[in-house]
Amino acid sequence: MSDLPDPHLLLDVALTIAREAGELLARGREGTVAAETTKSSPTDVVTALDRASEALVAKRLGELRPGDGLLGEEGSDSAGSTGVRWIVDPLDGTVNFLYRLPNWAVSIAAEVDGEVVAGVVHAPTLGATYTAVRGGGAFRDGTALTGSTVTTLAGALVATGFGYLESSRAAQAAVLTRVVPRVRDIRRMGAASLDLCAAAGGLVDAYYERGLKPWDHAAGGLVAAEAGLRVGGLHGRPASEDLTVAAPPALFGPLTDLLAEDPPADRD
Ligand code: IPD
Repeated sequence: MSDLPDPHLLLDVALTIAREAGELLARGREGTVAAETTKSSPTDVVTALDRASEALVAKRLGELRPGDGLLGEEGSDSAGSTGVRWIVDPLDGTVNFLYRLPNWAVSIAAEVDGEVVAGVVHAPTLGATYTAVRGGGAFRDGTALTGSTVTTLAGALVATGFGYLESSRAAQAAVLTRVVPRVRDIRRMGAASLDLCAAAGGLVDAYYERGLKPWDHAAGGLVAAEAGLRVGGLHGRPASEDLTVAAPPALFGPLTDLLAEDPPADRD
């Protein structure tokens, strides 16, 4: 496809819209936030603000980038005609948001011909905006990020998360019982995009999760990779629902080997 846009221009669009959606959510959070409905299971909540945020992102992308495709957590799914597709989690960390915990974010990634080239994870309550363009490094509010260089499982603080289906959680808990004794400690912070950014910034040494959807890892995965971490899945495959791992290169193999000992969890 000729005439593909400069990833930096796509990043600017993503930043503008993520800030607008973040403002909408931050304002909404001042009022009453209630679970409006559930999706895959009774614990998989959606608030009216998840939907309002996705509607805002879709509308603004339509204005700024007409013809692009869009895949969003709350149902947007269009291929577009330009070679650019946006992958959006309009509110990652919905349960944190509901409980007024600070770890929630708007995650927007731009994919060109199937490859993520720009990503923003904007977390208003944390006061943090993570950005990356493929080949251009990763940043938190303009400061360059480099991930951990820890090389051993025993020395690694590892973030992870859980899906919403009872059967997924049971399988994830079984994996966790094997991981916990082998690592420094575990963190469960509640927003996959921000877990990936935490790994990018060295706030944790590594992150893994099974069952992630593209909107959970598209932007944060690019931020982590651009911070020097290896991001991928099982057996050399890309990050996917089967497994997403972000870890320092020397730790990636031992961590995925440990995780691969169990069959993949059911999906939400
Ligand atoms: C969830 C969060 C959570 C992760 C789940 C995701 P949502 O996204 O990122 O940390 O463990 O797998 O589904 O539902 O808050 O957008």
